[in-house]
Amino acid sequence: MLNGKKVFLIIAGGIAAYKCLDLIRRLREQGASVRCCLTENAKEFVTPLSVSALSQGPVYTDQFSLKDESEMSHIELSRASDILVVAPATADVMAKMAAGLADQLATTLVLATDKPVLIAPAMNLRMWLHAATQANLATLMARGIHVVGPNEGPMACNEFGPGRMAEVPEIIAAIDGVLSPVQSLAGCHAIVTSGPTVEPIDPVRFIANRSSGKQGHAIAAALAAKGARVTLVSGPTALPDPVGVTTVSVETACEMLAACQSALPADIVVCAAAVADWGIKAAEQKLKKRPGGTPPVLELTLNPDILATLSAAGPNRPRLVVGFAAETEDLIAHARDKRSRKGCDWIVANDVSAETGTFGSDTNQVHLISAEACESWPSLDKRAVATRLADRIAEALS
Ligand code: C5P
Repeated sequence: MLNGKKVFLIIAGGIAAYKCLDLIRRLREQGASVRCCLTENAKEFVTPLSVSALSQGPVYTDQFSLKDESEMSHIELSRASDILVVAPATADVMAKMAAGLADQLATTLVLATDKPVLIAPAMNLRMWLHAATQANLATLMARGIHVVGPNEGPMACNEFGPGRMAEVPEIIAAIDGVLSPVQSLAGCHAIVTSGPTVEPIDPVRFIANRSSGKQGHAIAAALAAKGARVTLVSGPTALPDPVGVTTVSVETACEMLAACQSALPADIVVCAAAVADWGIKAAEQKLKKRPGGTPPVLELTLNPDILATLSAAGPNRPRLVVGFAAETEDLIAHARDKRSRKGCDWIVANDVSAETGTFGSDTNQVHLISAEACESWPSLDKRAVATRLADRIAEALS
């Protein structure tokens, strides 16, 4: 799979560094050559000797090594491989990368490279969920850095949650995906809706919902990674626009429908937005609170159903229309009913009852419902759900 590819592996200081010894072996079994750099902290977890023995080459650790620098400068070193892989990518290394620091050889190499960079984050779950780490992740992704994992599960610190480094086969598959992306959706146009819609009450107030847009944005990025031209029509979110995708920002459901319709024709539509069912007859001026006055009555208007409208047969009907069903009870039955009512081809059903914590979280447990079948997927990172869905879409269209 990776025959002849040159992988530069940067090992940072986390307990998952031990898995890198196996990663080196498996990469070499695939025919790749591996050069390695250890951060100072990584040396506390794995020794340069083991890494050198397994990679059968020099191990770089020192920013100011006269010997290494005279053989190959750090700039050349950072560009001599096909890909830089940072595994484990600790919270500290991610923060340094996001800030553009070059305080040691590892971070200097990442900053100096012109090659794709893949990170495999691994850290304690609270560090992973910390707003600082999530902001750094968003910054790195917006810059086109590829990310694999982390996975959810038991951790070395005896806690359970997201933060385990992706397993070696997953990292190898991700490296392969970056180096030889399968452009199975090349030539296709996909429209993806994402995020909430906001419906104004007056010029300063609005009604909205809790959708973060994480799932929709990840689907847009996954379809683009397969070569599709993607138009992402999104309500307001805190997320950066995905790389390689045309993002159209909208606020109301009516604006979202209009943006989708003007993006037609499309081969694929994925409606992941949480669209408000009702709009409001908005006041032109700010509603005033009068002393002793009664609260205003809001007059609701029926919003268009974007999914049903785009699913309706016509010359412009996309080949595959996928909707989402967020339910809090009788998930599968409601989702099946929704599929036939809205006329879409597939429904991705997920349980959003409070205890699942799906809204705003990084994981999602979904069921893919078609006319013929219901496939239940395990709880996955939202990016992994997006990749699987993009795989399925590519299979269906092929
Ligand atoms: O009817 P409900 O909101 O449960 O349906 C969810 C699915 O329909 C999602 O795919 C959502 O994006 C889509 N939808 C839409 N326009 C609406 C309401 C929902 O596209 N007005």
